[in-house]
Amino acid sequence: MALECVATTAFGIEAVCRRELEALGVSVKETKNGRVYFTTDHSGMMRANLHLCTAERVHIVLGRAFVRSFDELFAFVGKLPVERYFRPEGKFIVNAKSVKSTLFSLRDIQSVGKKAVLENLRSKLSVSAFPETAEPYRILLTFEKDESEFWLDTSGAPLHKRGYREDTGEAPIKETLAAAIVLLSFYDRTRALYDPFTGSGTIPIEAARIARNIPPGLDRTFDFEAFPFVDDKLYQEVKRQAYTGIHHGDIGPIRAADIDAKMIEKTRKNAERAGVAEDIDFVSEDFRAMAFADPHPVVITNPPYGERLMQAEDFRRLYRDLGDIIRREKNASFYILTPVANAEGFFKKKASRTRVLFNGPIKTRLYQYFGPPPKRES
Ligand SMILES: C[S@@+](CC[C@H](N)C(=O)[O-])C[C@H]1O[C@@H](n2cnc3c(N)ncnc32)[C@H](O)[C@@H]1O
Repeated sequence: MALECVATTAFGIEAVCRRELEALGVSVKETKNGRVYFTTDHSGMMRANLHLCTAERVHIVLGRAFVRSFDELFAFVGKLPVERYFRPEGKFIVNAKSVKSTLFSLRDIQSVGKKAVLENLRSKLSVSAFPETAEPYRILLTFEKDESEFWLDTSGAPLHKRGYREDTGEAPIKETLAAAIVLLSFYDRTRALYDPFTGSGTIPIEAARIARNIPPGLDRTFDFEAFPFVDDKLYQEVKRQAYTGIHHGDIGPIRAADIDAKMIEKTRKNAERAGVAEDIDFVSEDFRAMAFADPHPVVITNPPYGERLMQAEDFRRLYRDLGDIIRREKNASFYILTPVANAEGFFKKKASRTRVLFNGPIKTRLYQYFGPPPKRES
């Protein structure tokens, strides 16, 4: 059965997610504002959940229509082929999002949407009771300029929850964002990767898992596993193929460093849970001690920040000294993620390219300083 799906991402990384989907052999239809729409089959939906490093969730789109009143909403949901997807015993959890639309009361949209789903099932399956005791169906009704879409969430917990990160520091970046920066960068498994401000180790752990081709969802479950229309044998086969795709050969060195020895211990534990502790060197040191032994290293990092902190001389010095390293190490590529708006001023070097990215609600900038590009395998 063909499925129309949408992968949701943080703003700014839709194109990376699109490339990941294309690499999975999936046909992408459209990309807009944190959404990547694609058509696929059941195996593609499963592989998207299992393999996408940068998506937050994968939903099935059951239908779309222009909706400007609650009667129109009831009629729209009433025509959807809900009997193909839902069992009446399921637990129906309806949520809503509305942007620049006539219908904006989320509570009313949820309530009318749920009534319409149940009424639709009642009439098509001739059932009278909805005990809500079986698998959850997380439904999202989205509205954008009055165009409504009905989504069924196949992921469950958001995909950035890989399951390995139990120990974090004060300002961890999301796993999906760390993976997106690694995929945007010149890093590949033949190169050395450095994170001198590693915190809980999100960047080196995501890089090692990308280098090893370890699917980010391998250690977790997804809502679709409980759906009656999903074939469990097919998912076992998709997982088996994912295991055979893991790279067991050599990868370049990965170094995770932080001035705080306690953070390095947390990073080590997280890396052990993520199955990549043997790929990473854990070092407790000041970033100023960073020395490059490799010809074209890639530095991806997220230094400390904060409006209040940036007033302090220590922090201005930290950014200035980091700039000295960027200017000195011409064979290295640097990717510095920070909410500091004028970091290039502190670094005293204009970035090759700057991108605005969101770490949850926090607007950050990725300052990119390109060294020699990688030799891509043809
Ligand atoms: C914003 S946090 C990094 C968060 C990390 N990306 C994560 O996902 O957990 C910045 C880190 O820089 C470390 N740090 C502060 N000053 C440092 C220095 N001079 N040298 C190395 N690390 C330092 C802090 O201990 C903190 O863990």
